[in-house]
Amino acid sequence: MNILAVESSCDETAVAVVRDGRTVLADAVASQADMHAIYGGVVPEIASRKHIEAIVGLSGQALEQAGIGKTDLDAVAVTYAPGLIGAVLVGVNFAKAAAFALELPLVPVHHVRGHIAANYIAHPELEPPFVCLCVSGGNTLIVDVRGYTEMEVMGATRDDAAGECFDKAARVLGIGYPGGAPMDRLAQGGDDRRYDLPRSHVSGAPLDMSFSGLKTAVINLVHNAGQKGEALDLPGLAASFSAAVSDTLVPRTMEAARLRGYGKVAVAGGVAANSRIRADLERACRRSGDKLYLPPLSLCGDNGAMIGCQGYYEYLAGVRAGMDLNAYANRDIGKG
Ligand code: KG4
Repeated sequence: MNILAVESSCDETAVAVVRDGRTVLADAVASQADMHAIYGGVVPEIASRKHIEAIVGLSGQALEQAGIGKTDLDAVAVTYAPGLIGAVLVGVNFAKAAAFALELPLVPVHHVRGHIAANYIAHPELEPPFVCLCVSGGNTLIVDVRGYTEMEVMGATRDDAAGECFDKAARVLGIGYPGGAPMDRLAQGGDDRRYDLPRSHVSGAPLDMSFSGLKTAVINLVHNAGQKGEALDLPGLAASFSAAVSDTLVPRTMEAARLRGYGKVAVAGGVAANSRIRADLERACRRSGDKLYLPPLSLCGDNGAMIGCQGYYEYLAGVRAGMDLNAYANRDIGKG
């Protein structure tokens, strides 16, 4: 079964063709990151306009890459939530038009479910149940993936997402947007104990997280140093910051894994590319005996292949949308 998959929830327009859920025939991605870098963050209006400009050409490119025609498609899957509402709407309307014109079923896909599914593409043997740490620019969740379409949030950030925190810290350090990858590179040569940064706890909710205090601590540190004319040890700060994020994410993920006892832990989303988090999870899983599934860096960020993969499992579960499908800025992953 060939699925045309569309993703436009943030600043990447992506169209993929995925066969039977796990074979990626094409994965065309047009990133707008350069465009938003000038502003130090995603400008929603620009994102929507750029999606409109890219999406038709990208679909043609995906079909060409896949070596199939429109008549070889069996369904259209699309990210319908969560994301920047104007951006998600572009993909949803394009997918509706394609499904209508080609008389194909339309399958709505939750963006974070898509990130989780990137692991199925990378690890053919992986099947639910497992516990997944989902960390991206807009979401930070620990999810009990009970089945391909059956999920429960075990823990979540109460404020900023981990990726957003990386981006804001990088901005104040003047190392560009998106800041996660450059922060990661900068941290390589740094001493992770150079700065004492906070690790927050949410009282009464041990698996929930908070990143706003860490973000504010970095902003204050940089401003105070600037006022006093003191030089900062940038690699040390990047390393201390990455350690604080990882210390917030990894023990909670391992606790969730212990509570469920599936013996399998996965990671998903743009921040899953972070080398400190990957290394800490590898160490923690070696200790606990859980098998760890890490997506390759190419599948951590937003892409269409992950939507085609999850779309396949949603299709098998009977999930369909009509021409009245709407886009949503927020949506519980458990509700699909
Ligand atoms: O999954 P993604 O591409 O988009 C969303 O769905 O949000 O994630 C983007 C986020 C950005 O915040 C970016 O800075 C972060 O992932 N990111 C990283 C790394 N690579 C990308 N954060 C930390 N370390 C990295 N190596």
